[in-house]
Amino acid sequence: MAEKIPPQFYPLEPSRSDVETPMEQSKEFRRKKRIKCLAYVAAFVVFQTIVILIFSLTVMRVRTPKFRLRSVTIEDLTVGSSNSPSFNMRFNAQVTVKNMNFGSFKFDNSTITFAYGGASVGEAAIMKGKARFLSTKKMNVAANAALENPPSNSNLGSDINAGMVTLSSHSRLSGKVNLMMVFKKKKSVDLNCTMTVNLANKDVQDINCD
Ligand SMILES: *[C@@H]1O[C@H](CO)[C@@H](O)[C@H](O)[C@H]1NC(C)=O
Ligand SMILES: *[C@@H]1O[C@H](CO)[C@@H](O)[C@H](O)[C@H]1NC(C)=O
Repeated sequence: MAEKIPPQFYPLEPSRSDVETPMEQSKEFRRKKRIKCLAYVAAFVVFQTIVILIFSLTVMRVRTPKFRLRSVTIEDLTVGSSNSPSFNMRFNAQVTVKNMNFGSFKFDNSTITFAYGGASVGEAAIMKGKARFLSTKKMNVAANAALENPPSNSNLGSDINAGMVTLSSHSRLSGKVNLMMVFKKKKSVDLNCTMTVNLANKDVQDINCD
C-alpha cells in the first residue's frame, strides 16, 4: 500500500515532519496513515483466519481410528469326525488400533465374538487401553471357539470333510479421542471379519475384514 501514496505525502526523512505543511496536506496524510493501519489489521485478521483454518483441518480434525485383525495363530485344535462333527480350538489373535489423531484414543473393555454358521462359538476379551497419538497399538488376545453339538442342518460335517471351517468375527471398540488435553470426541469402530481355518495344517488363512 505504501507505494500508492504520492511522494509529496510521504515523510522520507524525520527532518521533513518538522517542516510546516499546508493544513490540507496534513489531513490527507493522516487519512492515508489510517487506511494503511486498517490494511495491516485486515491482513493480520486474514492471516490468523488461515492459520486457524489450517489448524482445525489438521491438528484438530478427529479421525476415526482403524481397528484391524492382523493374524490368528492356532495353539490347539481338536476336530470331530464328519459323522459326529465338532471342533474345539484355542487361538491367539493379533489386533491393532491405528490412531492417526493428534491426541490419544482411549478405548473401553470390549470383546471379539466368533461365530460359525450364524451361531456364536466363542469370545475373546480386549482389555481397555490407549493408542497414543499418531501411533498403532498392537494387542494379542487369547480366544476359544468350540462347537460340540451343531444343529442337524449344520454344514459342519461336510466342512470337516473338506478340511476347511469358516468362522466370522465381530467386534466394536468404543472410546474417546482426546485433543489438546481438553477436547474429547467419542469414536467407535467396528471390525467384522471372516477367516478360514485349515484343519489339516492347523492354521488360519484368508482373513477378510470390512
Ligand atoms: C475391564 O476388564 C477388566 C478385566 O476383565 C476388569 O477388571 C475391569 O473391571 C473392566 N473395566 C470395566 C470398566 O468394565
Ligand atoms: C458388523 O457387524 C454388525 C453385527 O454383526 C453390524 O451391525 C455392523 O453393521 C457391521 N459393520 C460393518 C462395517 O459391516
